[in-house]
Amino acid sequence: MEGATTNISYNVLDRNVHERKLGDKVAFYWEGNEPGDEKTVTYRELLQQVCKFANVLKSQGVKKGDRVSIYMPMVVELVVAMLACARIGAVHSIVFAGFSAESLCERIMDSQCCILITADGFYRGDKLINLKLIADEALQKCRDKSFTVEKCIMLKHLTKEDEALSGSVSPPAKRACPDLQQEKQKERVRKVRPPPQVPWNPEIDMCWHSLIGEESEECDPVWCDSEDPLFILYTSGSTGKPKGVLHTVSGYMLYTAATFKMVFDYHPDDVYWCTADIGWITGHSYITYGPLANGATSVLFEGLPTYPDVSRMWEIVDKYHVSKFYTAPTAIRLLMKYGSEPVQKYKRTSLKILGTVGEPINPEAWQWYYSVVGEKRCPVVDTFWQTETGGHVMTPLPAATPMKPGSATFPFFGVVPAILNESGEELEGPSEGYLVFKQPWPGVMRTVYGNHERFETTYFKKFPGYYVTGDGCRRDKDGYYWITGRIDDMLNVSGHLLSTAEVESALVEHEAVAEAAVVGRPHPVKGESLYCFVTLNDGINYNQKLEAELKKQVREKIGAIATPDYIQNAPGLPKTRSGKIMRRVLRKIACNERDLGDVSTLADSSVIEHLFENRCCTAV
Ligand code: WTA
Repeated sequence: MEGATTNISYNVLDRNVHERKLGDKVAFYWEGNEPGDEKTVTYRELLQQVCKFANVLKSQGVKKGDRVSIYMPMVVELVVAMLACARIGAVHSIVFAGFSAESLCERIMDSQCCILITADGFYRGDKLINLKLIADEALQKCRDKSFTVEKCIMLKHLTKEDEALSGSVSPPAKRACPDLQQEKQKERVRKVRPPPQVPWNPEIDMCWHSLIGEESEECDPVWCDSEDPLFILYTSGSTGKPKGVLHTVSGYMLYTAATFKMVFDYHPDDVYWCTADIGWITGHSYITYGPLANGATSVLFEGLPTYPDVSRMWEIVDKYHVSKFYTAPTAIRLLMKYGSEPVQKYKRTSLKILGTVGEPINPEAWQWYYSVVGEKRCPVVDTFWQTETGGHVMTPLPAATPMKPGSATFPFFGVVPAILNESGEELEGPSEGYLVFKQPWPGVMRTVYGNHERFETTYFKKFPGYYVTGDGCRRDKDGYYWITGRIDDMLNVSGHLLSTAEVESALVEHEAVAEAAVVGRPHPVKGESLYCFVTLNDGINYNQKLEAELKKQVREKIGAIATPDYIQNAPGLPKTRSGKIMRRVLRKIACNERDLGDVSTLADSSVIEHLFENRCCTAV
């Protein structure tokens, strides 16, 4: 579509309001961290807010092509900020609000952003995150490296709009609500919640509300070329330095709109809920762009699945009559630990389709999701894709594709997969090897920001002529594709290629196990041996009998070749903030290597020491 012009904010807002007459339709039901903290935004209101904020950005001198860093919690204003950038042709670079000052600094510098948009702070469950404080630290780190960001816009999320900022502010501003129960809840929040710390530098800091108040509700979209950049989103790379994945306007718009519509079988009366954070690609594509392009109504959730209790998700499903629900296997496994009772407290009769994304889903978790959450009424769409692919590339179409638990089934329209062996030969029929794609599709990334060479070497060098996903894949006799996990998570035990996911799935099938992570540990005879970390369900103790059962389970499920050599009881696993297990760190623990490399993406570093202290030294 090169040479064509468009604007994505026009397509997801103006077109819906003016041509499709959806102005009064709800775009987002925002549900805060605290139950009862909620607000509703229609398409018309969203358009007005986006225009106002786009005018703010223009007043601050932001122009087409400029990069804007956004570091915000899950609030409607995050969507407003991203669409305001898109409206004026500026390139947003959203950094997940769980990242550290160091990571934010690195991303700001790599993308050479001219302005940072952030918020005072937010709560994740009971934990206060002083976002502005971290943002300031990041800007200081940039300055130390001779890169100055001259402007920072801060949203008052926990602070009252008219409250002066003096470094200490009063507790969260809450909206009036007639419900007594909810009032009590808010009362509790007001009393016990300390306010965020908000450092303020009048030279660079500006307040979202005071800026937006003066601006007009109209702002003409800046027409962009189809191939103009829309956003940069950083994803981890094997070298440790994150890659700025760059997506462009039209292809990404078309692809997210089409996949959202077909994969979730979108109907106008749906209420759709994707539990991802907008700071990841899933939130970009399937909270903001895909749903809005279709004029859909979505839930935007700020909180946690376990706060204030483990029924929260299902409470929200009933509250908004959610019909399409999209989450990650890690969330499913977490909730599975608590059994079916917290789920069954709620009706969930509105649910029609369940989706998963982010990692291979083990058949046991799939079954629980399908049977307990969906009561066997709802097709499960296991969507395989990547930050790089922009949208779903391997996925069932609900109710049309016969499901196999754990398989992402078949390619989406226009996607042509192949399975290659180590020498780059295409394998036919049932086979296992590298998953690659043979032709581009509209949503594929266009480059690594500022480093096109890295784009070429990462994705196209190993097998010339193919896009290399980095994932392993098996095709069964019926032609179904089974993602086996990242190739770097493959193990070679006595010449047999094993996927860690396969062994983990076998372990997790045992009723005592909540989660498992398997890594290779060098072995003088076998090449690699299997070192397994297992997290047990609540109330279960680890003992030798259980250990023997687990070994037997894996042997029975996969074969003697996959018998675990080491099993370690791991009450906690090292995970990234998006919930991915950091196997690289586990490999070091298995080998008792203390030099862990870059662990800045680790969500909770306290688990590491515990794992080192309780290492298995002798094979089981
Ligand atoms: C993994 C997330 C199996 C895969 C959208 C991929 C999956 C990486 C699935 C990309 C799935 C994602 N089944 N594996 N349904 N979905 N993955 O960039 O290893 O955060 O390469 O994008 O997640 O992660 P990313």
